[in-house]
This record gives sequence, structure tokens and C-alpha cells, in this order.
Amino acid sequence: MNIEYASNDLGGVNWTQLKSRLQVDEFDNGRTAAQLRESFANSDSTCFAFCDGDIVGTARALSDHVGSAYLLDVWTYGPFRRKGIARTMIDTLLAGLTGQHVYLQTDSPNFYERIGFSPRPTGMEIIVGTFLGADLTPSAASD
Ligand SMILES: CC(C)(COP(=O)(O)OP(=O)(O)OC[C@H]1O[C@@H](n2cnc3c(N)ncnc32)[C@H](O)[C@@H]1OP(=O)(O)O)[C@@H](O)C(=O)NCCC(=O)NCCS
Repeated sequence: MNIEYASNDLGGVNWTQLKSRLQVDEFDNGRTAAQLRESFANSDSTCFAFCDGDIVGTARALSDHVGSAYLLDVWTYGPFRRKGIARTMIDTLLAGLTGQHVYLQTDSPNFYERIGFSPRPTGMEIIVGTFLGADLTPSAASD
């Protein structure tokens, strides 16, 4: 199995395929394929993993380029897990974040501890308005 990585290059990503695979893995948070592309395009750094041109992993980072960064959308497609793909993507992002405090929120703390992260108790959050600006009326839901 030949896994190829693309760093800070969105050109090879089939966003419809990514959306579909996130749904299969139940890791889809509701963004459309276009919103997924926009999320990655507006990030400070990105890393993707491909197998034969198909997307099998994603990771991205937001950063103030001084002392604070945040990791998001860390995902490896189910059939490709436990092969070092997420570790490689995160290592690639971290290499560009030297000197910064890198934070994230996760439901997979054991994975992050395995690759060197430490727990940081008590995350806090707020959603401003509705998530993704979604109109949740019944007629809009069927659009
Ligand atoms: C969590 C996730 C990203 C791991 O991806 P992966 O490509 O399988 O991870 P890697 O193969 O790079 O694993 C790196 C190390 O962590 C370990 N690991 C992987 N998943 C683990 C888990 N769920 N629990 C504990 N350890 C785990 C691996 O065994 C490996 O250890 P080793 O190198 O000492 O053998 C993947 O399971 C996933 O996409 N899950 C759903 C989405 C998610 O939860 N993302 C993170 C939330 S932000």
C-alpha cells in the first residue's frame, strides 16, 4: 500500500469523495463538500493522505504564527487506520508550528497521548448562532 502525502496543497482533493468517506466513518459534522474545501483553504496549514489518488486522511491547523495553534479535522479513513497515517499528518503540521502551544479537542485522547500530547482538562465552547449558519426549518432541511 503506497500512501502519498500532500502538505499545503489542496489540488488533489476530491471534496465530494471526502464528504462521502467522512459520512461512512460517521465523522461528518454537516459541512457540504464546498464548505469542507473552504475550511481547509482558510487554514494556516493542511496535510492530506492519498492512496492511489483517493483521499484517506486529513489534518489541518489554525495558528496565530506566534504562540498558539489549534488542530482540526484529524481523520484517517477507517480501512487505513493504525498504519501511521494520522501520526505522519500531525508530525507534518507540527513541524511548522515550532514554539507554539498546540491545542485540540478530541474524543480519541488515547491516540493523542500515544503520539505525545498531554491532557488539558476543561475545554469550553460556544456556538454563535446556529452551527454552519444552518436554517433548521423543515422546508430548509429537505433542500
Ligand atoms: C484517531 C485517528 C485519527 C487515528 O488515525 P490512525 O491513522 O489510525 O493513527 P496512527 O496509525 O497514526 O496511530 C499512531 C499511534 O497511535 C495509536 N493509535 C491509533 N488510534 C488509536 C486509538 N484510537 N487509541 C489508542 N491508540 C491509537 C497507533 O497504534 C499508533 O501507535 P504506535 O505508533 O505506537 O503503534 C483515527 O482513528 C480516526 O480518524 N478516528 C476518527 C476521527 C477522530 O476521532 N479524529 C480525532 C479527533 S480530532
